Amino acid sequence: MAEYKKIVELSLPSILGLELVAVDASASLAKLMGFSDDRIQDLMTAVEEACLNAIEHGNRQNADMKVLVALTVDEAKLQIDVHDRGKTAFNPDIKKPDIDAKVSGEDSRTRGWGLFLIKSLVDEVEFKWSPETGNITRMVIHLKQPKMEANNASGMQSYSS
Ligand SMILES: Nc1ncnc2c1ncn2[C@@H]1O[C@H](COP(=O)(O)OP(=O)(O)OP(=O)(O)O)[C@@H](O)[C@H]1O
Ligand SMILES: [Mg+2]
Repeated sequence: MAEYKKIVELSLPSILGLELVAVDASASLAKLMGFSDDRIQDLMTAVEEACLNAIEHGNRQNADMKVLVALTVDEAKLQIDVHDRGKTAFNPDIKKPDIDAKVSGEDSRTRGWGLFLIKSLVDEVEFKWSPETGNITRMVIHLKQPKMEANNASGMQSYSS
């Protein structure tokens, strides 16, 4: 796979359910690159959450607005960009969900897991927004990254222009 740095591009109408097309494409490419089944599962969850956010929050489920998903193979890395046309930036620096508070009922909100999962499951994540481009969630997984490091999301950056 290292001989090419091919980009697979998907253009999805913002309809819930179509995120699975991006999930399957990401999993297929990761499998071709030789990622382990565990790592592919991590990637699938992260891609699903990023695409759901793009469909639901960025494009507000307007089927005429596309979510663009670009898959880039870069030697031992797979990069997935999920791009929506959101008109406003969002703050991705969310707090880690408090599982105890959720279990005890103290925190009754069932939402708010997506960004936490994305940050936990991929090796690199970056959120960008500009008025011209909308939101881009960029996720990267490394073929040779040890699992412990892979789950360290501290390298996350976020910025908007
Ligand atoms: N692509 C996006 N465009 C605009 N806002 C976003 C986007 N992604 C996330 N957000 C904002 O960040 C918040 C947190 O996202 P997160 O995915 O963690 O939770 P959620 O989508 O509200 O719930 P869940 O993912 O658990 O179903 C969202 O509620 C939304 O306000
Ligand atoms: Mg979400």
